[in-house]
Amino acid sequence: MLVNLQEVLSYAEKNRCAIGAFNTPNLECIMAVLQNAETYRVPVIIAHAQVHESIMPLDTIGPIMVLCAKRAKVPVCVHLDHGESLDYIEKALELGFTSAMYDGSRLTFEENMENTLKAVRMVRKYGAGIEAEIGVMRSSSDSSEGSKGEKGIYTDPEIAKKFAEMTNVDALAASFGTVHGIYTEKPQLDFQRIKRIKELTRIPLVMHGGSGVSREDYITAIEKGIRKINYYTYMSREAVFAAKELLNGQEGVLYHDIALTAVEAMKKDSGKAMKVFYNIP
Ligand code: 13P
Repeated sequence: MLVNLQEVLSYAEKNRCAIGAFNTPNLECIMAVLQNAETYRVPVIIAHAQVHESIMPLDTIGPIMVLCAKRAKVPVCVHLDHGESLDYIEKALELGFTSAMYDGSRLTFEENMENTLKAVRMVRKYGAGIEAEIGVMRSSSDSSEGSKGEKGIYTDPEIAKKFAEMTNVDALAASFGTVHGIYTEKPQLDFQRIKRIKELTRIPLVMHGGSGVSREDYITAIEKGIRKINYYTYMSREAVFAAKELLNGQEGVLYHDIALTAVEAMKKDSGKAMKVFYNIP
């Protein structure tokens, strides 16, 4: 069942859990995530990132994501992740996406605010939800970046408050120590910062760079107010490990064998994470 961001986030607030938001740049990812959500009977978010356009065009995967969400036995929100242009966001909404993130985090506060407000007006016309970002998160592959991040780019709680009040977004991505991609050292998350941002904004907060974080850190982050956890890299890497093992010394493997092996590996990895996000015994 296709639902919007507000619906899955209200489930998260009510149940004091976090909704898993998984990037799904291929059918294998979609299958793995939706099969888990149906097994655990929880709402979930499947997301397409603008940065994945070169590996999977929105035009191709978008209609498939929407169709799979509609057919699912659980509530599924279809989200545009890290939309950097309003045109790209509109294209996703036209395809039936029920949520979008406008990422103006690298712009000045004023520019970010101005564009976020345009994105808010746009998504509301479609009945969709909107996430925005304040503070800058870097990728672990950025040369100057370790997994600790830099204090200077962490989200300032007072600025987050002003931003949330002025934009009226449904969810806010904050920078507090996670990074996108593979962690080169254990992330040091600033939980007090999340707590303070939550107290001041009173809206659902989003953890980006969610894969690779420890179980204990997920639990603490959720306690402090994280309600959506974006997750991709480590799930995708598990598919590669499993495919390598399958190919190791074997003749006659066909591509569909690799695809099925990938689904199972990603199901196992994302399922383990979902159990923590939703507090499933
Ligand atoms: P990871 O790929 O590091 O898990 O991050 C996913 C993400 O934050 C997408 O927005």
